[in-house]
This record gives sequence, structure tokens and C-alpha cells, in this order.
Amino acid sequence: MKGPTNQLNIPISMLSVKEVLKSRVLSDDYEIENNDAFFVADLGEIYRQHLRWKTHLPRVEPFYAVKCNGDPMLLRLLAALGTGFDCASKSEIQAVLDMGVDPSKIIYANPCKQGSFIRFAAERDVKMMTFDNIDELYKIKRLFPNAQLLIRILTDDSKALIRLGAKYGASLDDTGFLLQSARELDLNVIGVSFHVGSCCYDENSYIDAIRRAKFVFNQAAELGFNFHLLDIGGGFSFSSKSDGFTFERVAAVLGPAIDETFPSNIRVIAEPGRYYAAPAFTIATHVIGKRTVCRDIEEDYVPDMNIDQVNALPTRDDNPAFMYYINDGLYGSFNCILYDHQIVTPKVLMKGGSFLFGETLDEPEYSCFVWGPTCDSIDCITKNGNLPELFLGDWLYFEDMGAYTISAATKFNGFKRTKVIYTTTDPSVFDFLCVSL
Ligand SMILES: Cc1ncc(COP(=O)(O)O)c(C=O)c1O
Repeated sequence: MKGPTNQLNIPISMLSVKEVLKSRVLSDDYEIENNDAFFVADLGEIYRQHLRWKTHLPRVEPFYAVKCNGDPMLLRLLAALGTGFDCASKSEIQAVLDMGVDPSKIIYANPCKQGSFIRFAAERDVKMMTFDNIDELYKIKRLFPNAQLLIRILTDDSKALIRLGAKYGASLDDTGFLLQSARELDLNVIGVSFHVGSCCYDENSYIDAIRRAKFVFNQAAELGFNFHLLDIGGGFSFSSKSDGFTFERVAAVLGPAIDETFPSNIRVIAEPGRYYAAPAFTIATHVIGKRTVCRDIEEDYVPDMNIDQVNALPTRDDNPAFMYYINDGLYGSFNCILYDHQIVTPKVLMKGGSFLFGETLDEPEYSCFVWGPTCDSIDCITKNGNLPELFLGDWLYFEDMGAYTISAATKFNGFKRTKVIYTTTDPSVFDFLCVSL
């Protein structure tokens, strides 16, 4: 462990994720201690994502979306790497300022803000903020007339898993009126922001959004504004799988489209969240309970089933199916299933004392449900899983679990939030973390 070399004094190992998982679960005595679920965060992965960004979208400055995962080590590393931050609330702004980040590296990217939070931003000199409606403009005029405003526009979010357009974004029919009103209020609008939706799977959504942004830049110029900032939001894929929808695929068309549409004096920023956080976090969970059922489990079968119906099932026959209960669930880190429309894939980490990370098991698989630990029947992680038979004390793991997991986890039923163990597979991370901001 190289704890003292980072400013937060939190231990960071230099092991691979696999080695960290192994050292932890093999030391496990599942009925006594050390059997809580845990995350392993590979800070090296965050660093690599940053380098990947710089390589493929060099003109665009990332402002990490804190809401995605506010883990202090993740924030600290990104601050040291020089990213800016997209904050949605007072406490996110506070957390970023507390690290010593300059207020000019924060955008308060929430188009509808609580008045006292705007005051707070004004007091702390966090000037950049978004709006998409006239009431917000009146509020900002009263509370922070010198703010640097970005008009958040509506774009086509139909090619995104998580659509945001129903809630935010001024349509191009309204932007003229809003800019005219800002002019009359003598407010300082400096640019345009958009978000094509999270988990966007079509690069054309960005291209279309760039065109819309250009339209609003032109509108603003006619009204006498001198726009110099474009914020292209989030939505970026973190995948690097050649058969997947990759960041490189988006960057290959988005970078040139920005260059063709906006001259080099226009500053371009983005608000990636998932892109940075998702791939760095792996969660390991412990099998704390098991029920054996004997019929095939249908997709619509269990969530609506009451306890009497479950109990009425025969216990086992030639066609068993299993229900596993693990120690994190939908109310905890797996809230991403509910709020973020994610489908998670359980993999066997340890079975019968054998460590199996990354291995394909030559064993029969059975249909299974994987449940979280709370007493609520909505707390179901996988309804249609296929796994080898597991036993109490075995472990499962789930990869790419860094986005919209920890940040929205609750303590429902008295369960603690799952803790994070840090490692780095790139030693240069230490150099960044030991530098004062
Ligand atoms: C305003 C804003 N910016 C950035 C993000 C981050 O998006 P993503 O995690 O898809 O990159 C979000 C996510 O909801 C958002 O609402």
C-alpha cells in the first residue's frame, strides 16, 4: 500500500483488480468478518480514460459530471489531471472547491437551481451556469447578475438509453425569445450547452446537436451577444470493445464536426460522467442466502409473486432453479438498474473456495434469480440469470459498475453503503495524487 503518497491518506495498492479481489475474498471467513460487499476502483483506468479522451477529442475540455460518482479519490485524481467539473448542486460545488479547484473550472450545469444555491455560487465565484427558461433568468438576474450563462438547448435524445429532453432544454422555437429577454435583462450569455442523453448510441445525435448549437450561436450574434463557449454535455460511451459503440466512433465524427462548425476561438467543453467512472469500478458481492425452486423461472414470475406463492413451490427436482441473495442490491449500488436502465451481468468470483475471476466454468448452468438483501421484492438484480450452482459463502462480481451506482445508493433496511478499495494499474497516478492543487 502507498497510502501516505496521496493527499487523502487513503491506501492505494498497485495490484491488478484481480489481485485485490483475490486477496480480499480468500481471506474471507464468511460467517465471521470481512464479508461485506466491496468495490475495487482502479484509478489507472480513470487515467487511461483521460488519456483516451485527450487523444481522440483534444479540442474538448472535459468537465467531469460529479453526479455520476462523487467518490473522493476519483474527484481528486481528475482534479489533478486538470479536468473541470460539472456540478448540479451546492454540495457538489462545495466538494470540488474543497479540493482546491479554481471556481472557473466549475460549471453549475443545472438549468433549474435553488435560489440559495445560486447565491452560494455567486459568493464562491462559480460563474458559469446553465438556464433554459425565463423564470431562471429572472432568478439569476436577482441573485447573480454577473453570472456567465449558457443556454441549454433541446436536442434529439431518441438514440439514448436515458433521455433528458423531457425535462430540460429550450427548443429552437424558444431560444430567440430567451436570448432577447436575457439581452433586455442585461445578462451575460456566453454560449450554448446541450446533452444528447446518457448512454447515447448514435454519433449522429451529436452532429445534429452541433448544427442546432450553431443556429443558436447565429441567433445570439444577431442580438449582439459574443458567444465563445460551447458545452457538448455528456452521454459518451466508455466501451472500447471493437464490436461495441465506442467513444472513438463518436469522437471520429464529432471532433471534425466541431472544427468545421466553430472557429478555434470558440472554447469547447463537455460534461462526461459515465465515460470516466463506469469502467474503473468492479463490485464483489457475497452470496448470503439461497433458495432452491424446481420449475423454470419465467421473466414475469417472481417480482409479482407473494411469499405464499414462493413457499408453494416444490423445493427441488431434476430441473432446479436457484434464487441467490447477495449483500448489495437495488436500494444500494444496484440502483442503476432502476434509475439508469442498466442490465448487470453477474460473474462467479469464488465458488467452493476456488477463485474464478475471468474464468469460464466447465459446469452446468441453471436458471437463477439474484436478489438484493432488503426485504422488498422489487430488490431483484437479475431475473433471467444463468450460473453454475452457487453455495452460501461464494462470491459474485460485476464489472463496469462505477456510473450512477454509489452516488444514488440508499441505506434502506439499515444496510451500509458499499465501501471502495483503491488500487492503480498505472503508477503515474501516484505522481498526480501527491501534487497539491
Ligand atoms: C447536465 C448533465 N451533464 C452531464 C451528465 C453526465 O452524463 P453522462 O454520464 O451520460 O456522460 C448528465 C447526466 O445526467 C447531466 O444531466
